[in-house]
Amino acid sequence: MNNSRADIEKNYNAAIITLSDKGAAGLRKDESGPAIKQMLEKSGFCKVEEELIMADEPEELKTALIRMCDSCGYNLILTTGGTGLSPRDFTPEATLAVADRNVPGISEYMRAKSCEITPRAMLSRGVSVIRGKSLIINLPGSPKAAVENLGFIMPALEHALEIVSGSGGECAAHGA
Ligand code: MTE
Repeated sequence: MNNSRADIEKNYNAAIITLSDKGAAGLRKDESGPAIKQMLEKSGFCKVEEELIMADEPEELKTALIRMCDSCGYNLILTTGGTGLSPRDFTPEATLAVADRNVPGISEYMRAKSCEITPRAMLSRGVSVIRGKSLIINLPGSPKAAVENLGFIMPALEHALEIVSGSGGECAAHGA
């Protein structure tokens, strides 16, 4: 029997990790985490259950990502920050280190669309990966960049979560 759209589980949960040395030290207010939380919750298909602010420490990020995927089983983990070229930007390396599979199209699309806004977008090295049944997506760190990037992928995000979580995901059923 085919699943109808209405049968598909629509309630996904998410975690947000803000990578910022200054934020973790209390020297800068985190505006990116709250901004993308608001966007996700407005979408109506995703509830944010955990928010973390961490220093740019790759080992700590790896530990947090593994816990969030394997123990908490969040459907989606968004990181913001640490994707650039500075000596302490290690978010993509930590994310790739815990990945089962790469999902290059998500980050390729965000970079391509972002370069229409600013050529500096090519400086974000963010990646998107799957670990188990969780999708991890790196966003850049500024509130403007994080919101713009998430906005670009939002139209495909629910379908991605359906497929990764195993709760649905017949492309033909969506007319796509
Ligand atoms: N993407 C969009 N859409 N808008 C932006 O303003 N800023 C860029 C880029 N991506 C930007 C963007 C800049 S200036 C940098 S340095 C990189 O993201 C990396 O940011 P991060 O190191 O804070 O993660």
